[in-house]
Amino acid sequence: MRALDRVSLEIGEGDFLSIMGASGSGKSTLLHLLGGLDYPTSGEIFMGDQPMSKMSDDQITVFRRRKIGFVFQFFNLLPTLTAEENIALPLLLDGKRLNDVRPRVERMLDLVGLRRRAGHKPDQLSGGEMQRVAIARALVIDPMLLLADEPTGNLDSKTGEDILHLIKRTAEQKNLTVVMVTHDPKAAAYGDRILVLKDGVIASDDHMGMAVGA
Ligand SMILES: Nc1ncnc2c1ncn2[C@@H]1O[C@H](COP(=O)(O)OP(=O)(O)O)[C@@H](O)[C@H]1O
Ligand SMILES: [Mg+2]
Repeated sequence: MRALDRVSLEIGEGDFLSIMGASGSGKSTLLHLLGGLDYPTSGEIFMGDQPMSKMSDDQITVFRRRKIGFVFQFFNLLPTLTAEENIALPLLLDGKRLNDVRPRVERMLDLVGLRRRAGHKPDQLSGGEMQRVAIARALVIDPMLLLADEPTGNLDSKTGEDILHLIKRTAEQKNLTVVMVTHDPKAAAYGDRILVLKDGVIASDDHMGMAVGA
């Protein structure tokens, strides 16, 4: 099974790339490769000028933990932890102490508008609120890259729009690079570039808004 075939692309710092394509076209596989969650059988992925194939598993783990934020369709929050603890988790896993990171976590709660939900567990939050927590958790490490796989796939359209606005606004403020997988053309339009995959191959790669090239 060839999930991706001859896929070659360059993603610039601060770009917002949307990836579209039918189910099974390789979108998640591409995102996982970019996040070091999966490895290509051939080819190379560079982070800046660093080839990922030359990094050890430990280096990739640390790189992922410190530089890449992930947001998923089903939020993937830990049910036994509060919103605040879920957000703090990537920093705690990196050896930091809750007391030391609390100001940073509170800034994240403010960023996503959930300061008053800090002590709530996921089952006490709405879908949109859970996704806000997930975004805060992804951003608390101050990543260089935000990877989002169908982040609005499980939300109603109004809540989905709020989430997309939040991602877009934050990305612009922080010059964050975003790669977002989505089925929804309206969601994809938040990107400044839309890549369409078909059966593991790039079917189109359109830069929106401004003309690119000569
Ligand atoms: N771990 C795996 N092992 C084997 N095949 C897989 C695996 N993950 C995905 N695939 C297959 O690779 C193709 C691309 O999958 P995926 O990247 O998940 O697509 P999408 O996210 O676009 O729906 C599909 O045909 C899928 O069945
Ligand atoms: Mg997928």
